Parts: sequence; C-alpha cells; structure tokens
Amino acid sequence: MSSKNRHELIPSASRLIYSLRDLGYEFTSAIADLIDNSIEAGASKVDVQIQFAGGDSWVRIADNGSGMSAASLKEAMRYGSSSRDYGDDDLGKFGLGLKTASMSQCRTLTVSSKPGGTGAVSSFSWDLDHIATADEWVVLSVLKNDLPQPIRQALEDGHHTVVLWEKLDRVLDYKYPDGEAARKFIHSLTRQTEDHLAMVFHRFLAGEAARRRRLQIRLNGNVIEPWDPFCRTEKRTRSLSASSIPISHEGQTGEVHFEPYVLPHQDRFSSTDAHERASGPDKWNKQQGFYIYRGDRLIQSGGWSNMRTLDEHHKLARVALRFGPKLDDAFKINVAKMRVQLPAQLRANLEKLLVPVINAANSEYRQGGSGKSPPSPSAKPAPTSPPAQSASVAPSATVVSEETKKYDGAPLPVIKSLHTLDEIKQRLLTIAGNDEKPIIERLFDRLTLGGNR
Ligand SMILES: Nc1ncnc2c1ncn2[C@@H]1O[C@H](COP(=O)(O)OP(=O)(O)OP(=O)(O)O)[C@@H](O)[C@H]1O
Ligand SMILES: [Mg+2]
Repeated sequence: MSSKNRHELIPSASRLIYSLRDLGYEFTSAIADLIDNSIEAGASKVDVQIQFAGGDSWVRIADNGSGMSAASLKEAMRYGSSSRDYGDDDLGKFGLGLKTASMSQCRTLTVSSKPGGTGAVSSFSWDLDHIATADEWVVLSVLKNDLPQPIRQALEDGHHTVVLWEKLDRVLDYKYPDGEAARKFIHSLTRQTEDHLAMVFHRFLAGEAARRRRLQIRLNGNVIEPWDPFCRTEKRTRSLSASSIPISHEGQTGEVHFEPYVLPHQDRFSSTDAHERASGPDKWNKQQGFYIYRGDRLIQSGGWSNMRTLDEHHKLARVALRFGPKLDDAFKINVAKMRVQLPAQLRANLEKLLVPVINAANSEYRQGGSGKSPPSPSAKPAPTSPPAQSASVAPSATVVSEETKKYDGAPLPVIKSLHTLDEIKQRLLTIAGNDEKPIIERLFDRLTLGGNR
C-alpha cells in the first residue's frame, strides 16, 4: 500500500466541457459520428433533419435501432461512458462521440430513447449554459411533456432514438442568425452533409458492409445514394492486383487490405454526368490517393498521406486501404475518427505497391482520350460485384496477365511478353534506385508526349 495520501481532483466541468468542444470535428464529421452510433445500434434507417429557423435552427438525427433504457441512456450521456463490449468491427471506441461530436456544434444536446422501440421514453439533456453557471457534471432529465417539438415528432413517427442539437452557436456564428447569409450557409452545409454521408457510409448504403443490414439515410426527407470512390460500376474502371499487408504493433497484429483502382479517362466514362459525379466532394485532383477505411467506414478520403504529392497526371488513381479496430493504435485514430497516420511498416510496403498503380493511372490520363487502347498495366476490369472483404493475395503487386477482352469494339490481343512502353517503364522502375526513378519518369514522359522536355 502506498504511503502517499490520495486526493481526488474532479476536473472543472465548465472549463473542460468547453475544451472538449474542440477535438477537431467538422459539422459533417460530427453528424457521421452519430450515425456510427445508429449503425452500431442495428438501425436500418436514419433520418437526419437540418432545419433552418434563424437563431432557433436545429439538427436532429433519429434512428430505428435498439433504443436505450433510462439507465443505459443516462450512462450513454456520460463523457467517457462505461465501455460496452466493443466488437471486432465496432464503430465505437472511446465512449465520447455522442457528447463531443454534438457539443462541438451546439450548446444544448437532448437525447430521447425507448428500448426495443416499444418501452418507455426517457430523455436527458446536456446544456452548456447550465454547466457554465453550475460548474458541475450534471445532465438534466427532461419530462415527456417538456420535450422539444422536433423530438416529439420523431418519436411519433416511430423512431427509437432521437438526438437533437439546439443553439447551434458553432454553426450559426452570425451577427444576424435570421439573415439571408445564415440561411444560405445552412443550405450549403446541407449539401456538404449529403456528399459527406454518401461517401463515408457508401458501403453501408450499398449493402456491402460485412455483417450489417443495408442502411438507408434520409437527409431532410431525401434518400442519400452511395458514392463509390472507385466507380466500380463503370465498365472501364480497372481494378489492379490487391494485397494484404501484415502489420504488428505493440503486441497487436492485423492486416491492411490494399485495393488499387484506376478510374477511366474522362472520355471513357459512360456519361458526362457519371464523370462529374465521380469527381467527388473535393473534385478530381484532391480525390486521388488513399481511401482509408476502418472496417467498412471511410475515415479519410483522398491525398497520399505525405507519401506523394497530388499530381494532375495521377488523378485517376484511387486506392482503398482497409484496417480493423485491432490496428487502431497503429493508425493512431483520433476521437473524431477523421484522420489516421499510416504506420511506418505499412509505408515501406506501399512505396512498392504504388508504382504500378501510379504508372497505370498516368497512362490512362495521357492516352485515355486519344482513342488508343490503353497500355497494359497490371490491370483487370473492375468487378461488377463488390470486392471480397479480405482479398488475401501476396504482399506485392504482381503483374496480372491481361485477358482477351473487347475494347472499343475490337478484341485486344493477349499480351504474352512485356513490350509496351509502359511495361518497359514499369520494369525499369521496379529495379531502379530512388535517384534513378525521376530520370526514368522524365525520359518516358518525353517518349510518350513526343516533346523535348
Ligand atoms: N443511437 C443510439 N442507439 C442506441 N445506443 C446508442 C446510440 N447512441 C449512443 N448509444 C450508446 O451510447 C454509448 C455512448 O456513445 P458514444 O458515441 O458517446 O461512445 P461510443 O460510441 O461508445 O464510442 P466513440 O466515442 O468512439 O463514439 C454507446 O456505446 C452506445 O451504447
Ligand atoms: Mg459513438
């Protein structure tokens, strides 16, 4: 037994609760964090309502999941709620999201729930103004008759858990919250939310998520369609060879699945609309790069995580990287689940695996519009059905022989030996040292463009 005396120091509620508003959430990622909870509660339907009403604007997320008893809801409202049995593919982790995501956007959070969708309704509320004066960690219980109208309505409509954000001080930071500028801002935020949710939950919305029901998300009454970053339904999208990369970190081991795609050149998309839609929330150039999934949930989209710079010539390359919660620490996942860091072990593997992907994307970009057949990188047509959850192939990108297939109406010959410029370049790049690679790139650029650069 220690001889030291113990002194419990409870953090100041009014100070800490303010600091916890700044964990890095954006409006869209805060909503996504609440939808994680709905999915985890087994919901098949989530209704998001973003309502502009000047200073009384509100946001509501309602679902038909398992619901909570009064005791469970009270515990759920605790910052750092007691750890439930987090499953292997659980979307939750910290016991914080419901509170931190919500309070990053609003001053009053009210949650109502009924267990099993039939039990008694209970409701609790965190109110920043109350905390600021009382300086105590207290949630307020709300009687049924005192519930705000948007919650009553959602319960009447048959929802089981309803989350309501009011006093949107972080969203409507306007001198005139009733004004036209504020109205327009909410409108544009609603559009951004639609894009974000369509992307982050695309596997759930398309019914591809492992061991989960297909999810329907409505935003202000409209059903959100999934946005597949890899355009797998486009005939000309190419799925390159996938790999599984074993990672071990502080006693935890797991695999990272690497699934590269090269999207078609603009002229090879099925329609102008399809090409426009494929550009994504941040548009073509910024949407190249890694799409990092934790389980089936997208955490980070686009960019090369400091491994490469964004390059117009490589904008058709998009690569899925998927890891499970066991590797959370290796990826240094943050509370807002918006960003991860690639483990060093993974980076070393990715360097090699990316070479053929970048080359294929480069060729598609340069030659796609010329009407020529594409050179043959290690590519095969994208599967029409979703890729296998755990494509376990050798941890190196091996060349996959191009099958005879129709292209622009004419059959392509089976390639028996490496003889296109792109293939020669790829082979050279795999044996070149780091100092030699840029020279090879430049020489081949000159050859393919026919210029004197
Ligand atoms: N919509 C919901 N339906 C049913 N239960 C819910 C719902 N939202 C939250 N919960 C319960 O409240 C708990 C706390 O949620 P919270 O989002 O704060 O933490 P978490 O999901 O456990 O972890 P994380 O901080 O990673 O999100 C959840 O673990 C879950 O048991
Ligand atoms: Mg959560």
